[in-house]
Amino acid sequence: METITVPLGERSYEIRIGHDFEPFPDLARSILPAGKALLVSDENVYSLYGATVLSLLEQAGFHVTPVVIPAGEESKTLVQADVLYTAAISANLDRSSAIFALGGGVVGDLAGFVAATYLRGVPFVQLPTTLLSQVDSSVGGKVAVNHRLGKNLIGAFY
Ligand SMILES: NC(=O)c1ccc[n+]([C@@H]2O[C@H](COP(=O)([O-])OP(=O)(O)OC[C@H]3O[C@@H](n4cnc5c(N)ncnc54)[C@H](O)[C@@H]3O)[C@@H](O)[C@H]2O)c1
Repeated sequence: METITVPLGERSYEIRIGHDFEPFPDLARSILPAGKALLVSDENVYSLYGATVLSLLEQAGFHVTPVVIPAGEESKTLVQADVLYTAAISANLDRSSAIFALGGGVVGDLAGFVAATYLRGVPFVQLPTTLLSQVDSSVGGKVAVNHRLGKNLIGAFY
Protein backbone atom coordinates (compact mmCIF):
# COMPACT_ATOMS: atom_id res chain seq x y z
CA MET A 1 0.00 0.00 0.00
CA GLU A 2 1.43 3.33 -1.07
CA THR A 3 0.59 6.62 0.65
CA ILE A 4 0.68 10.05 -0.93
CA THR A 5 0.05 13.04 1.32
CA VAL A 6 -1.66 16.01 -0.25
CA PRO A 7 0.01 18.88 1.65
CA LEU A 8 -2.64 21.50 2.37
CA GLY A 9 -1.77 22.55 5.92
CA GLU A 10 -4.68 21.87 8.24
CA ARG A 11 -6.62 20.49 5.28
CA SER A 12 -3.93 17.94 4.33
CA TYR A 13 -5.18 14.47 3.51
CA GLU A 14 -3.83 11.12 2.39
CA ILE A 15 -4.30 9.13 -0.78
CA ARG A 16 -3.77 5.37 -0.32
CA ILE A 17 -3.03 3.27 -3.38
CA GLY A 18 -3.28 -0.52 -3.19
CA HIS A 19 -4.52 -3.60 -5.00
CA ASP A 20 -7.68 -4.58 -3.16
CA PHE A 21 -10.19 -3.47 -0.56
CA GLU A 22 -8.91 -5.65 2.32
CA PRO A 23 -6.87 -2.96 4.16
CA PHE A 24 -9.59 -0.37 3.64
CA PRO A 25 -11.73 -0.88 6.79
CA ASP A 26 -8.68 -0.69 9.09
CA LEU A 27 -7.59 2.48 7.34
CA ALA A 28 -11.08 3.91 7.68
CA ARG A 29 -11.14 3.03 11.39
CA SER A 30 -7.75 4.71 11.87
CA ILE A 31 -9.26 8.06 10.86
CA LEU A 32 -12.95 7.64 11.80
CA PRO A 33 -14.87 6.42 14.85
CA ALA A 34 -16.99 3.32 14.19
CA GLY A 35 -20.52 4.54 13.74
CA LYS A 36 -23.23 5.15 11.23
CA ALA A 37 -22.24 5.63 7.63
CA LEU A 38 -23.64 5.88 4.12
CA LEU A 39 -22.11 3.82 1.34
CA VAL A 40 -22.98 5.54 -1.94
CA SER A 41 -22.46 3.67 -5.20
CA ASP A 42 -24.02 3.26 -8.62
CA GLU A 43 -25.82 0.18 -9.84
CA ASN A 44 -22.90 -1.08 -11.97
CA VAL A 45 -20.20 -0.66 -9.36
CA TYR A 46 -22.38 -1.84 -6.49
CA SER A 47 -23.16 -5.08 -8.31
CA LEU A 48 -19.41 -5.74 -8.68
CA TYR A 49 -17.98 -4.57 -5.34
CA GLY A 50 -20.87 -3.48 -3.12
CA ALA A 51 -21.32 -6.68 -1.13
CA THR A 52 -17.57 -6.95 -0.46
CA VAL A 53 -17.15 -3.35 0.69
CA LEU A 54 -20.37 -3.43 2.74
CA SER A 55 -19.28 -6.57 4.56
CA LEU A 56 -15.72 -5.23 5.22
CA LEU A 57 -17.12 -1.98 6.61
CA GLU A 58 -19.58 -3.82 8.85
CA GLN A 59 -16.81 -6.13 10.10
CA ALA A 60 -14.87 -2.95 11.00
CA GLY A 61 -17.79 -1.79 13.14
CA PHE A 62 -19.57 0.66 10.86
CA HIS A 63 -23.38 0.55 10.66
CA VAL A 64 -23.76 1.13 6.96
CA THR A 65 -26.77 2.24 4.93
CA PRO A 66 -26.11 1.53 1.25
CA VAL A 67 -27.56 3.95 -1.32
CA VAL A 68 -27.37 2.81 -4.93
CA ILE A 69 -27.98 5.43 -7.63
CA PRO A 70 -28.54 4.88 -11.36
CA ALA A 71 -25.23 4.88 -13.27
CA GLY A 72 -24.32 7.87 -15.42
CA GLU A 73 -24.02 11.63 -15.50
CA GLU A 74 -27.83 12.02 -15.23
CA SER A 75 -27.51 11.10 -11.55
CA LYS A 76 -25.32 14.08 -10.67
CA THR A 77 -28.30 16.23 -9.70
CA LEU A 78 -29.96 17.89 -6.74
CA VAL A 79 -32.73 15.30 -7.14
CA GLN A 80 -30.27 12.46 -6.39
CA ALA A 81 -28.65 14.61 -3.69
CA ASP A 82 -32.05 14.76 -2.04
CA VAL A 83 -32.27 10.94 -2.14
CA LEU A 84 -28.93 10.85 -0.27
CA TYR A 85 -29.99 13.52 2.25
CA THR A 86 -33.17 11.54 2.94
CA ALA A 87 -31.17 8.35 3.49
CA ALA A 88 -28.75 10.18 5.80
CA ILE A 89 -31.55 11.74 7.86
CA SER A 90 -33.53 8.47 8.00
CA ALA A 91 -30.44 6.62 9.25
CA ASN A 92 -29.80 9.37 11.86
CA LEU A 93 -26.33 10.17 10.57
CA ASP A 94 -24.66 12.76 12.80
CA ARG A 95 -21.63 15.03 12.38
CA SER A 96 -19.19 12.20 13.11
CA SER A 97 -20.82 9.83 10.59
CA ALA A 98 -18.99 9.19 7.35
CA ILE A 99 -20.08 9.10 3.74
CA PHE A 100 -18.17 6.59 1.61
CA ALA A 101 -18.26 7.00 -2.18
CA LEU A 102 -17.65 3.76 -4.12
CA GLY A 103 -17.63 4.52 -7.83
CA GLY A 104 -16.43 6.83 -10.55
CA GLY A 105 -16.46 10.60 -10.75
CA VAL A 106 -20.25 10.81 -10.79
CA VAL A 107 -20.61 8.98 -7.47
CA GLY A 108 -17.65 10.87 -5.97
CA ASP A 109 -18.89 14.32 -7.02
CA LEU A 110 -22.48 13.65 -5.88
CA ALA A 111 -21.62 11.95 -2.57
CA GLY A 112 -18.95 14.58 -1.92
CA PHE A 113 -21.44 17.38 -2.47
CA VAL A 114 -23.80 15.75 0.02
CA ALA A 115 -20.93 15.21 2.50
CA ALA A 116 -19.98 18.89 2.16
CA THR A 117 -23.51 20.10 2.85
CA TYR A 118 -25.29 17.56 5.10
CA LEU A 119 -25.13 19.04 8.64
CA ARG A 120 -22.73 21.62 7.10
CA GLY A 121 -20.16 18.89 6.48
CA VAL A 122 -19.45 15.31 7.54
CA PRO A 123 -16.38 13.08 7.00
CA PHE A 124 -16.00 11.89 3.41
CA VAL A 125 -13.95 8.99 2.00
CA GLN A 126 -13.72 8.14 -1.69
CA LEU A 127 -13.04 4.69 -3.15
CA PRO A 128 -12.59 5.70 -6.79
CA THR A 129 -13.19 2.89 -9.29
CA THR A 130 -12.49 4.51 -12.68
CA LEU A 131 -9.12 5.74 -13.93
CA LEU A 132 -10.54 9.27 -14.23
CA SER A 133 -11.77 9.26 -10.66
CA GLN A 134 -8.52 7.76 -9.35
CA VAL A 135 -6.22 10.33 -10.97
CA ASP A 136 -8.46 13.38 -11.24
CA SER A 137 -11.90 13.77 -9.69
CA SER A 138 -11.10 12.22 -6.28
CA VAL A 139 -8.07 14.52 -5.89
CA GLY A 140 -8.30 18.16 -4.90
CA GLY A 141 -11.63 18.29 -3.11
CA LYS A 142 -13.88 19.67 -5.84
CA VAL A 143 -17.42 18.30 -5.46
CA ALA A 144 -20.51 19.31 -7.42
CA VAL A 145 -23.83 18.48 -8.98
CA ASN A 146 -25.15 19.60 -12.34
CA HIS A 147 -28.03 21.98 -13.02
CA ARG A 148 -30.27 21.58 -16.07
CA LEU A 149 -28.61 24.74 -17.43
CA GLY A 150 -25.06 23.49 -17.04
CA LYS A 151 -22.53 21.04 -15.61
CA ASN A 152 -20.96 21.32 -12.13
CA LEU A 153 -22.71 24.64 -11.47
CA ILE A 154 -23.56 23.87 -7.81
CA GLY A 155 -20.71 22.67 -5.65
CA ALA A 156 -18.01 23.19 -3.10
CA PHE A 157 -14.36 22.62 -2.28
CA TYR A 158 -14.43 19.97 0.41
N1 LIG B 1 -14.39 16.81 -9.03
C1 LIG B 1 -13.45 16.92 -9.97
O1 LIG B 1 -12.40 17.54 -9.76
C2 LIG B 1 -13.68 16.25 -11.30
C3 LIG B 1 -12.62 16.13 -12.22
C4 LIG B 1 -12.86 15.44 -13.41
C5 LIG B 1 -14.11 14.90 -13.68
N2 LIG B 1 -15.12 15.03 -12.76
C6 LIG B 1 -16.44 14.45 -12.99
O2 LIG B 1 -16.31 13.04 -13.08
C7 LIG B 1 -17.44 12.54 -13.79
C8 LIG B 1 -16.99 11.46 -14.75
O3 LIG B 1 -16.41 10.44 -13.99
P1 LIG B 1 -16.20 8.97 -14.62
O4 LIG B 1 -15.57 9.10 -15.95
O5 LIG B 1 -15.55 8.14 -13.58
O6 LIG B 1 -17.70 8.53 -14.93
P2 LIG B 1 -18.78 7.63 -14.12
O7 LIG B 1 -18.70 7.84 -12.68
O8 LIG B 1 -20.10 7.92 -14.78
O9 LIG B 1 -18.33 6.16 -14.47
C9 LIG B 1 -18.39 5.73 -15.83
C10 LIG B 1 -19.09 4.37 -15.96
O10 LIG B 1 -18.21 3.36 -15.48
C11 LIG B 1 -18.90 2.52 -14.55
N3 LIG B 1 -17.88 2.04 -13.62
C12 LIG B 1 -17.25 2.74 -12.65
N4 LIG B 1 -16.30 1.99 -12.06
C13 LIG B 1 -16.33 0.79 -12.67
C14 LIG B 1 -15.59 -0.42 -12.50
N5 LIG B 1 -14.57 -0.50 -11.62
N6 LIG B 1 -15.90 -1.46 -13.30
C15 LIG B 1 -16.89 -1.37 -14.21
N7 LIG B 1 -17.64 -0.26 -14.42
C16 LIG B 1 -17.35 0.80 -13.66
C17 LIG B 1 -19.97 3.40 -13.95
O11 LIG B 1 -21.05 2.66 -13.45
C18 LIG B 1 -20.39 4.27 -15.15
O12 LIG B 1 -21.34 3.58 -15.93
C19 LIG B 1 -18.09 13.74 -14.48
O13 LIG B 1 -19.30 14.06 -13.84
C20 LIG B 1 -17.06 14.86 -14.28
O14 LIG B 1 -17.68 16.14 -14.17
C21 LIG B 1 -14.92 15.69 -11.58
